[in-house]
Amino acid sequence: MEDVICVSDYNKKVLETMNIEGIKIFDTTLRDGEQTPGVAFSIEEKIKMAESLDLLGVDAIEAGFPVTSVGEKEAIKKICDMGLKAKICGLARSNKKDIDVALDCNVDRVHTFIATSPLHREFKLKMSKEEIMARAVEGVEYAKDHGVEVEFSCEDATRTELEYLKEMHRAVRDAGVDYINVPDTVGTIMPKAMRYLIKELVSDINVPISIHCHNDFGLAVANSLAAVESGAKQIHCTINGLGERAGNASLEEIVMSLMALYGVRVSLDTTRLTYISKLVSRISGVVVQPNKAIVGENAFAHESGIHVHGVLSKAFCYEPLTPKLVGKESEIVVGKHTGLHAVEKKLKDYGIGLTKDQILEIVEDIKLIREGGKKITDEDLIAIAAGYVGKVPDEEKEVKLEEMSIISGLRITPTATAILNINGTKKVGSNIGNGAVDAALNALKSIVPEKITLEEYRLEAITGGSDALCQVSVKMANEAGIKALGKSVGPDIVMTSVNAAIEAINKLRKLNKEGKTQ
Ligand code: KIV
Ligand code: ZN
Repeated sequence: MEDVICVSDYNKKVLETMNIEGIKIFDTTLRDGEQTPGVAFSIEEKIKMAESLDLLGVDAIEAGFPVTSVGEKEAIKKICDMGLKAKICGLARSNKKDIDVALDCNVDRVHTFIATSPLHREFKLKMSKEEIMARAVEGVEYAKDHGVEVEFSCEDATRTELEYLKEMHRAVRDAGVDYINVPDTVGTIMPKAMRYLIKELVSDINVPISIHCHNDFGLAVANSLAAVESGAKQIHCTINGLGERAGNASLEEIVMSLMALYGVRVSLDTTRLTYISKLVSRISGVVVQPNKAIVGENAFAHESGIHVHGVLSKAFCYEPLTPKLVGKESEIVVGKHTGLHAVEKKLKDYGIGLTKDQILEIVEDIKLIREGGKKITDEDLIAIAAGYVGKVPDEEKEVKLEEMSIISGLRITPTATAILNINGTKKVGSNIGNGAVDAALNALKSIVPEKITLEEYRLEAITGGSDALCQVSVKMANEAGIKALGKSVGPDIVMTSVNAAIEAINKLRKLNKEGKTQ
């Protein structure tokens, strides 16, 4: 693993005192994940995700809450018939009807639950502690009698009195439960308290403890890992952290943390994580935030000059693990913080060789365009670079644009005024045209002393969208019949056209002196 993971050695120091192994991954994307506000999966979608979760290698799939609808039951039944390696689990309240519907689906495991916290006892269930315990035991016994595995949860366990929680656990243990899950239903515990609670529960009972954390304070993953540190053996999690309210612990983050930080041997095919994240995002309609750990678009993307330089020398400088491990690639993004190395590397990858000075000019162009709010794609970069091939170097330019103003609109003659610096002398000129571009180019032509004509004008959008960069090619000719092509790339059509025309004018002057044509 040393060649694909590079994390802090301090982790090893604390791991020496822990015994973390054989952690099972229980995926509840199809159940708690589907409880994400606004999300509902079709039968086919559930089947597709179950298949992918199985290929990923999770130990258990909570396929749904069978009693909630006919369609839900049918989906779970179909998933049970798929012959997947993962154990298929169905959720049921602690009552015979819910359990019967789950059993009817042929699930491998029934997950029964009942709320136990004082809040839920008083305001939701209106039941005494004893009544709740009796219901829980009855449910576990009933499901066990039907030959399936049984997992039991005290809903809102982290706000339940410790002694009562232990009594509940002992009671379901005596009823034959296989796993006891501890839900942090409203995400209200902190990692240190979770360590304390799970230690208490694990030492009290000889049944594997599972953990189910919600992310109301953004601590679902931290709390799940804290539970594992204290002896929990199964983690409930969801792809992309989907789930009620702020969601559940994200599977990708849990699995990669276990593997990379805790050194746990994980039997999942982690290279499938990015694909399954995308699949679930597409099906659920819940977009993955770009800066989401492990699977976010930016998780292995680098823009700032210092980072790109580091990553290009040794990826571990700014990557804790090789992105291939999670089915991703490192990406170098060009933008406001881009430096020479990033642009040089990108252009080299596309087989474009430019001088260091040209690349530095491109870096400046990129910063200007990015500050204007436009995202720069690789196609944009290639087009910008193409404009530098054969470009007149800045210090050799005889004609430079100092100012340009254009007036255009409805019922107004497009008019442009420009100030050019020609060999150190400022000259002003105005002209009109058929449109803003025509007026601007006519203004330029009216200032330069030589007579030039526009031979060809080409405008292309590089990528789609109204904010796409445009590429303008302007071919101009002088009286001697010498022709020159100027190219420019930018976010604004008129100014890009003006820059391309200035480039063509400078080339014409250069070629004229050399007595050549382009
Ligand atoms: O969050 C929760 O308490 C649950 C239970 C049904 C386990 O999802
Ligand atoms: Zn939950």
